[in-house]
Amino acid sequence: MTKGFGFTVSSTDGKARSGKITMPRGEVRTPAFMPVGTGGTVKAMYMDQVRELGADIILGNTYHLMLRPGAERVARLGGLHEFARWPEPILTDSGGFQVMSLAALRKVTEEGVAFQSHVDGSRHDMSPERSIEIQGLLDSDIQMQLDECVRLPAERDEIERAMELSLRWAERCKTAFGDQPGKAMFGIVQGGDDVALRERSASALAAMDLKGYAVGGLAVGEPQDVMLAMLQATCPLLPEDRPRYLMGVGTPDDIVRSVAEGIDMFDCVMPTRAGRHGLAYTRRGKVNLRNARHADDPRPLDEESSCPAARDYSRAYLHHLVRSNETLGGMLLSWNNLHYYQQLMAGIRGAIGEARYGDFTAEVQEQWARGDI
Ligand code: GUN
Repeated sequence: MTKGFGFTVSSTDGKARSGKITMPRGEVRTPAFMPVGTGGTVKAMYMDQVRELGADIILGNTYHLMLRPGAERVARLGGLHEFARWPEPILTDSGGFQVMSLAALRKVTEEGVAFQSHVDGSRHDMSPERSIEIQGLLDSDIQMQLDECVRLPAERDEIERAMELSLRWAERCKTAFGDQPGKAMFGIVQGGDDVALRERSASALAAMDLKGYAVGGLAVGEPQDVMLAMLQATCPLLPEDRPRYLMGVGTPDDIVRSVAEGIDMFDCVMPTRAGRHGLAYTRRGKVNLRNARHADDPRPLDEESSCPAARDYSRAYLHHLVRSNETLGGMLLSWNNLHYYQQLMAGIRGAIGEARYGDFTAEVQEQWARGDI
């Protein structure tokens, strides 16, 4: 296995590309979907299952793990891969975004962000340097810069201030990360829904010559066409030979459209969170298993699926599990949904490789348009 961190594009179709990221812990086929393993677990899933579904990399969260069980403790126990029994690559988010959405009494200054834990109220300071230190203690393979993401809608001045601060924090994270050949530190493009600010952020980060680039601050309440317009403004300014990661996105439709703009990596809680709430993703759209109309339905979610959760259990049984709040309901639906997402990514990669990405996109959209099955 390779000693360094690398990215190669093997096929393109329009702006869509497929390829692979290589790291000492393994290869990531792109476009890739990273299941979210916030606190060292992809909720309701065994790691073996996650791997079998075709995930090459999972995401972990600095914010959650620093609070519980603590980054130093994870390091003493051999790092996050050993602790969680996931030997493949891990990407960790830097913490800034989760502080903004979860922590109490947060305060952003030039130095970093001060906040109170949502777990026990304890006070913490996170600087760009501390975020990188924590991600190092977790032994994360792809580390993210600390950034400030502004919720939309927001005033232009506010978006600009946070974007410029994020650029200064990117420089500090780059210095703190130093030279680690087998790992990477990605910068995060910010700039809200403003094309000029997005361009400024993307060009400044590109000039820093980082190993990869994320696009952040999207899917935070703006319509899909705004998100796509931001990708159209951003992707052409990022180096072609580095992976591009769209953070926190999204629906299957968001994913196929973003790949068409040149995105290589995604993460989203949707498949696992929706699964725990009784919602199944299938080739024909979403099925809400809470609905009473499934109570007597002996059909599986998808008799043609290769996933046992989709193929071997009746909708009536899944409905019963969900309505009774049985743990197995969330387990089966998370399994089904992650299977759907990984199959979608495999389909995307295959279609790009065969230069039929436009047709593939149309097929996915047509299947979803047909609605519930
Ligand atoms: N996850 C989703 N969006 C973002 C973002 O803008 N920044 C970070 N750090 N994580 C995210």
